Amino acid sequence: MREHYRAAGIDETGLGGTPFQQFTRWFQEAVGSGLYEPNAMVVGTVDAAGRPSSRTVLMKSFDERGFVFYTNYGSRKGRELAGNPHVSLLFPWHPIARQVIVTGVAHRTGRDETAAYFRTRPHGSQLGAWASAQSSVVGAREELDRAYAELADRYPPGEQVPVPPEWGGFRVVPEAVEFWQGRENRLHDRLRYVRTPDGEGWRIERLSP
Ligand SMILES: Cc1cc2nc3c(=O)[nH]c(=O)nc-3n(C[C@H](O)[C@H](O)[C@H](O)COP(=O)(O)O)c2cc1C
Repeated sequence: MREHYRAAGIDETGLGGTPFQQFTRWFQEAVGSGLYEPNAMVVGTVDAAGRPSSRTVLMKSFDERGFVFYTNYGSRKGRELAGNPHVSLLFPWHPIARQVIVTGVAHRTGRDETAAYFRTRPHGSQLGAWASAQSSVVGAREELDRAYAELADRYPPGEQVPVPPEWGGFRVVPEAVEFWQGRENRLHDRLRYVRTPDGEGWRIERLSP
């Protein structure tokens, strides 16, 4: 279970000017490496008592504004983010000995942006978003299947499915982004972008592995 990482390192001079530029490069490399679901990330939230929870979601877009995922606002994560918008995102790119960790603040995407994305989803996924009150306890699988079947009757293929009111996106605006590259002898590279106090730029610092 002990891997020896032989990858080339990263240093301050070769990094992108912003974490978004650097993320773009690494994300392209993760995609190019054939990694399974490179946009899967672990989202960490905390409840009102400070108890953490995490789960995997798919990042659906990113740009200079932040990283976007879609979910149910009434889910555990949705409720926790409503109470405390501080969040962490972790991309676990183990096969290429890389990890990216974003910490920041989650904001709901606008309804127009949410609707535009919802319309790109397959019809069945659109119905599934209505059928599931995500994170609530379900008596039996049949309840979900019945709810789905009723919706499928109401909205046959080709019929536009409205966006569920409780469903939508979060855009995580980063405060810091760490790029981790596995190296030999456990002397890994860790380079972290931290937003400057004026909010305009980024400071890059190296962390001990
Ligand atoms: C690979 C993978 C991708 C997932 N993508 C999403 C997603 O994009 N949105 C989502 O709400 N849940 C997604 N899930 C399900 C979540 O992990 C989780 O079960 C669900 O969001 C409920 O989480 P919560 O109860 O902590 O809020 C995904 C799970 C896996 C394993």
